[in-house]
Amino acid sequence: MKITIAIDGYSSTGKSTVAKQLADWLEYIYVDTGAMYRAVTLYAMRKGLISDGFFDKESLINKLSDINISFTRDTTSGQAEVCLNGENVEQYIRTLEVSSFVSPIATVSEVRAKLVEQQQRMGEEKGIVMDGRDIGTVVFPTAELKIFMTASAEERAKRRYNELVERGDDVNYDAVLSNVVERDHIDTTREDSPLVKAADAIEIDNTETNLEDQFHTILQLAKDRI
Ligand code: C5P
Repeated sequence: MKITIAIDGYSSTGKSTVAKQLADWLEYIYVDTGAMYRAVTLYAMRKGLISDGFFDKESLINKLSDINISFTRDTTSGQAEVCLNGENVEQYIRTLEVSSFVSPIATVSEVRAKLVEQQQRMGEEKGIVMDGRDIGTVVFPTAELKIFMTASAEERAKRRYNELVERGDDVNYDAVLSNVVERDHIDTTREDSPLVKAADAIEIDNTETNLEDQFHTILQLAKDRI
């Protein structure tokens, strides 16, 4: 039997790494919903809907029907990459600039409704691992396995900082840490679908856990449900 696996948690807790590993191992579809919110944010930036730290919510809502988000498979890495209106934008959506606007944009109910509907369609056949903030609570409330990931803010910022440096971005650790803290604050306090642990989710704190051990723990939880 194929199941649905929902992985939620704070920013940079390694959700996507473990979700990808699980999907590869189980031969399931993997969907990074954060990438979808990031692609909408990139669209808003490119259309000039963001300036001086504010975004034009009404115009964004009016343009939502022009935004098409899809995924493509990178032929070299085999990874799913996000497309905005047919253009592979994976390399543009992980910047600190996109990270600093994505959470305010993810508070807009019309944006959420559009993306949640698409996410639910992608999971209709089960056999899916999806990561985000509201997967176990809103997108797939009946998922057979729900994981809620946490780690200390400092550890998470360190991981994100290393990732950005590896990509060649010119960033400073304090800016990354404040972005992580700020996003968590917006994500947990927004009115629509705030980040909360679903009552039936299993919480995993990986501040000090080896990622390989964590993968095996979660894989076993999945196997127990298949
Ligand atoms: O997962 P990632 O850190 O790339 O997500 C970027 C942002 O997108 C989050 O900080 C959150 O504001 C938003 N998001 C969301 N709901 C999801 C996935 C992401 O609100 N399911």
